[in-house]
Amino acid sequence: MSDKLKLTILVGTMTGTAQLVAQELELAWDGEEAEVQTLLMDGLDASVFRRPGLFLLCTSTYGQGDVPDNARKLYEDLAAARPDLSGVRYGVFGLGDRTYAETFNFGGRKFDELLLALGARRIGERVQHDASSGVLPEERAEEWAPGWLTEARAAAQAPAAA
Ligand SMILES: Cc1cc2nc3c(=O)[nH]c(=O)nc-3n(C[C@H](O)[C@H](O)[C@H](O)COP(=O)(O)O)c2cc1C
Repeated sequence: MSDKLKLTILVGTMTGTAQLVAQELELAWDGEEAEVQTLLMDGLDASVFRRPGLFLLCTSTYGQGDVPDNARKLYEDLAAARPDLSGVRYGVFGLGDRTYAETFNFGGRKFDELLLALGARRIGERVQHDASSGVLPEERAEEWAPGWLTEARAAAQAPAAA
C-alpha cells in the first residue's frame, strides 16, 4: 500500500556486525506497515537524504573514535556540503565497545551530532551498543526495533514544524 512507512537503513561497518544488525532490523520492520531498504554507506553522499521517508543510521566506531571507512565519504560530504536537512527524521543504532572508554560509540555519535547540526531531528534515543556487554547487537536490535517503529510512525504523522 502507498501509505506504508518508508525506511532507509544506512550501514557503516568495518567487519559486518552493523550489517547483521541492519538485517535484523529489516526483518523486524519490513512488512505490511513499513517498506525498508538497507544501503551500505559505501559511495553514498549527502544526496541520499533526499530519499522519501525516514532514516536509521546503523554504524560502528573505529580508529580513534572515527566512523568506519565505508562511512567516511558520506560523513565528510555532509560536513562539507552542509545541506539543509530540516525535513529529515532519523534514528541511530550505534555499535562500539566500552573498552575504548574515551571514544565509546563515537561513530554513531558523530553522525548524530552532524545531522542535528544540519537541522535534522532524531527519533528516539541513540542506541549505544557495547560489544563487551555480553548482549549480541542483533539481540539488542530485535528487542529495540518495535518501540522505535512506533515512535517513527508517530513522527511521520506529526506536522513538520512540531
Ligand atoms: C581496531 C578497532 C578500533 C575500534 N575503536 C573503537 C572506538 O574507538 N570506540 C568504540 O566504541 N568501539 C571501537 N571499536 C569496536 C567496534 O566498533 C565494535 O566491535 C563493533 O561492533 C564493530 O562493528 P562492525 O563489524 O560493524 O564494524 C573498535 C574495534 C576495532 C577492531
